[in-house]
Amino acid sequence: MCGIVAYVGNRQATPLLLEGLKRLEYRGYDSAGLAVMTPDGLKIARSVGRVSVLETMVENMDAADGTLGLAHTRWATHGAPTEYNAHPHTGMTRSGHRVAVVHNGTIENYATLKKYLTEKGQVFDSETDTEVLAKLICELYQGDLEKAVQAALREVNGTYGIAAICENEPHTLVCARKGAPLIIGVADKSYVVASDAAAIISHTSQVISLDDHQVAKLCAGPEDRLGDGGPWSVQFKTTTIDNIPVTQEVTRLDFELEQIELSGFKHFMHKEIFEQPDALRNCLRGRLDHRDCRVVLGGLSRYSRELVRAKRFILTAQGTAYHAGLIGEYLLEDLAKIPARCEYASEFRYRNPIIEPDTVAIAISQSGETADPLAALREARDRGALAIGAVNAVGSTIARETDAGVYLHVGPEIGVASTKAFLGQVTVLTLITLYIGKRRFLSDEVVRTYLRELERLPNYAERVLEQFDSIGKATERCVDRDNWLFLGRGYNYPTALEGALKLKEISYIHAEGMPAAEMKHGPIALIDKGMPVVFVAPQGSQYDKVMINIEEIRARGGRVLAVATEGDQAISNYADEVFYIPSVPEPLQPILSVIPLQILAYHAALLRGHDVDKPRNLAKSVTVE
Ligand code: AGP
Ligand code: GLU
Repeated sequence: MCGIVAYVGNRQATPLLLEGLKRLEYRGYDSAGLAVMTPDGLKIARSVGRVSVLETMVENMDAADGTLGLAHTRWATHGAPTEYNAHPHTGMTRSGHRVAVVHNGTIENYATLKKYLTEKGQVFDSETDTEVLAKLICELYQGDLEKAVQAALREVNGTYGIAAICENEPHTLVCARKGAPLIIGVADKSYVVASDAAAIISHTSQVISLDDHQVAKLCAGPEDRLGDGGPWSVQFKTTTIDNIPVTQEVTRLDFELEQIELSGFKHFMHKEIFEQPDALRNCLRGRLDHRDCRVVLGGLSRYSRELVRAKRFILTAQGTAYHAGLIGEYLLEDLAKIPARCEYASEFRYRNPIIEPDTVAIAISQSGETADPLAALREARDRGALAIGAVNAVGSTIARETDAGVYLHVGPEIGVASTKAFLGQVTVLTLITLYIGKRRFLSDEVVRTYLRELERLPNYAERVLEQFDSIGKATERCVDRDNWLFLGRGYNYPTALEGALKLKEISYIHAEGMPAAEMKHGPIALIDKGMPVVFVAPQGSQYDKVMINIEEIRARGGRVLAVATEGDQAISNYADEVFYIPSVPEPLQPILSVIPLQILAYHAALLRGHDVDKPRNLAKSVTVE
């Protein structure tokens, strides 16, 4: 999902912009471009396809001495992915200076603005909404880029993360945000602006996160151009779009550079699957108090009474996070005895939901920037719910807009297909459930059992990972089939949904997850000889019923792949392939049973020759509706 990198400082901008774009490639995009300020004015290059294509184009662009620039990876919303629709988009001020703009998001009233600007004599070269914003800034420019950007954004409806530069102000970078993330890295003698911290961490870990409707003016250059003394000076200020000064604190990023590098793995997804034992350790660290038999969640302490008194929980998310939320629904009702329901955020936010008193809303999100759960959270808060976050990206928009929250602490997740974040989401929801359940009806004996079993999960996950190669071989035996089913019961039903999503999104094989019993109400008609059906079937309360479902599939010629409990030899008489997980209490099974499904999807994508980390059409964080 689109990416912005911008730089103003004392170093060559071009290589820094290209490096930044490469760090954002994982987010998904279709075209790219950059603009660099030089003594001869703006130099611009744009291309369709990978950043490497742009890199080749830039070699012929004479911008070596430019120390101010901006760059973009586009995920097209208005206009096809073409060179002329790629960003930056430009305009000319009445004073004859060019302005370049890059933009994440959508300008909803772009057609009205375009009509107005066309009547003013502006001529458009692209089909994008972004070009309208660029030309509006030019139309309103009266010698001050910051003020022109503020004025233009006051006319805009929609979402934006933008950066803008102007030939008349060769040491000034202006950026702003509303509904699309933008972070400012404060480095030595320079500023790096990006839509994702992954493009900033190699420069600095000191950052400022803009809030919605805020604008930052960043200057860096010889003092004679800035007029405040000293051979080289940097300045920044943040305001609202109404030019009201605001102060933003400088915070520290919570990860290191090597965490966003491949470190010898072939793919980020491969790395992140194998990081899961450590991700679990980091997620659990400091949160299991065996001595006092309790879960420690400092981020919730201020609201512990509201959580204990809650009459209902609403969990809201999209995609993998939604599947984690479904498991949270089962956990809260099963262990904390609180009514709970998990809803697609995209539905919840528009269906005029009823929020009764003492309702708690939990937004679950790896990136903390996904548009729908952010909007759903705001909707629930506006209607009186206590808003809790289960988020991975520290300081992200969702994290900042909740009343309280629990960070996943699984480290940055680069692969588009979410793996360790899912484990973190389910683990955090388990911790929240135990945190509340302990204060409600759960006995110390039960809590102690879960604390002990949670502590063992990282080592258990390592045992599951030992099957990486054998799962690959099992996958090879049915990867040619284009339709798969994933079935499970109870806690393993959402896990089946997650397994189907993993396979779909990186191998492009059509897969459908559903409750195992539901298969008889229609989908069983799909079963033909050799059709792969994956059962998430660890031993538990519904094991016997799942075994019957397995027999039903086998009777119709289906090929059965099963996730089972170590020591369960019987299932191997019914399943063609068996992947084992250690025995754990049912509520904890998803944390382990999902791992073979992640590995299966990974191998299927490789066997089908697809880009595991950057699957077609997908973005890592869907920041547009
Ligand atoms: C899952 O593999 C996908 N990448 C996608 O479904 C993702 O889980 C969803 O877009 C939600 O993202 P978030 O957790 O960052 O909000
Ligand atoms: N709406 C803009 C366009 O279509 C920006 C899309 C994006 O966020 O990359 O060019």
